[in-house]
Amino acid sequence: MKNRIYAPHWEDYELIDAGNGLKLERWGKYVTIRPDINAYFQPELSKLEWERKAHFIFKEQKGVFGTWMNPGNLPLHWDIEFEGVKLRIFLKNTKHTGIFPEQNLNWKFIRESLDSAGNFLNLFGYTGASSMMALVQKAGVIHVDSSKSALTWTKENAQINTFDGCKLVLEDVVLFMEREVKRAHQYDLIQMDPPAWGIGTKGKKWQLENHIDLLMSLAAQLLKPQGKLIVTTYSNKITPVTLKETAEIYFPTRSYRTGMLATKSTTGKALDHGSMLQIY
Ligand SMILES: C[S@@+](CC[C@H](N)C(=O)[O-])C[C@H]1O[C@@H](n2cnc3c(N)ncnc32)[C@H](O)[C@@H]1O
Repeated sequence: MKNRIYAPHWEDYELIDAGNGLKLERWGKYVTIRPDINAYFQPELSKLEWERKAHFIFKEQKGVFGTWMNPGNLPLHWDIEFEGVKLRIFLKNTKHTGIFPEQNLNWKFIRESLDSAGNFLNLFGYTGASSMMALVQKAGVIHVDSSKSALTWTKENAQINTFDGCKLVLEDVVLFMEREVKRAHQYDLIQMDPPAWGIGTKGKKWQLENHIDLLMSLAAQLLKPQGKLIVTTYSNKITPVTLKETAEIYFPTRSYRTGMLATKSTTGKALDHGSMLQIY
């Protein structure tokens, strides 16, 4: 039996249904259909019902790219809100939207963990949803990502919320962490959401299974003694058991929880996303 940790429901996002390798999602007032490898089961609603609801349908082409069918000729970007924080959606040709909505569980954890005296290190920060949750608490934020466009999007998310004080760092995460260890900097909260694979700033290929141990050992050095850590990995090579074992090595005296981060659709389907660890 899988130990699933479900992301809570929120008004501006709904996983309506999932199945046949696809998910039907509502983002504010617009509904999308896009692929998801974890939706291996049968959906609850018919194809016709899905298509009647959807405003945008992602059609896969070669490799990781595709196009969004947009019969209503709607704008490809709009804003949604999570507990008063605005987040910008942009439908990209990679099928991604700029938001991993199941992370709302961690957004709550960030908001509950930080205040204006705290500092937050967001590693692999992407478009900055987690950074926004720390900024609304008036915490200091360092947001690290090796993609310029991710940092530009983060800046935009900060602008639409009129937040300032988010320090953006264009850098390979491991290089940045190693430098921070040398500077003896420490944080109240660190989040790491590394991709299963990727390319660092120097063009080096990244495979998570070769880096997870190093990431955890660096995080242990960068965390204040009572600091908190969030790790999510969307790689099938890293399981909740892997995260549990590394937590026991690098944080032997701390409390933690691990499990499979998942969303329950309105139709009752359980969709897995990846493994999660919270140290608190
Ligand atoms: C899966 S996304 C993170 C999702 C995000 N934290 C969220 O929940 O919304 C991974 C991010 O890591 C960045 N990335 C990949 N390899 C990197 C590296 N070696 N150093 C820094 N950032 C990297 C990518 O540019 C991408 O923005």
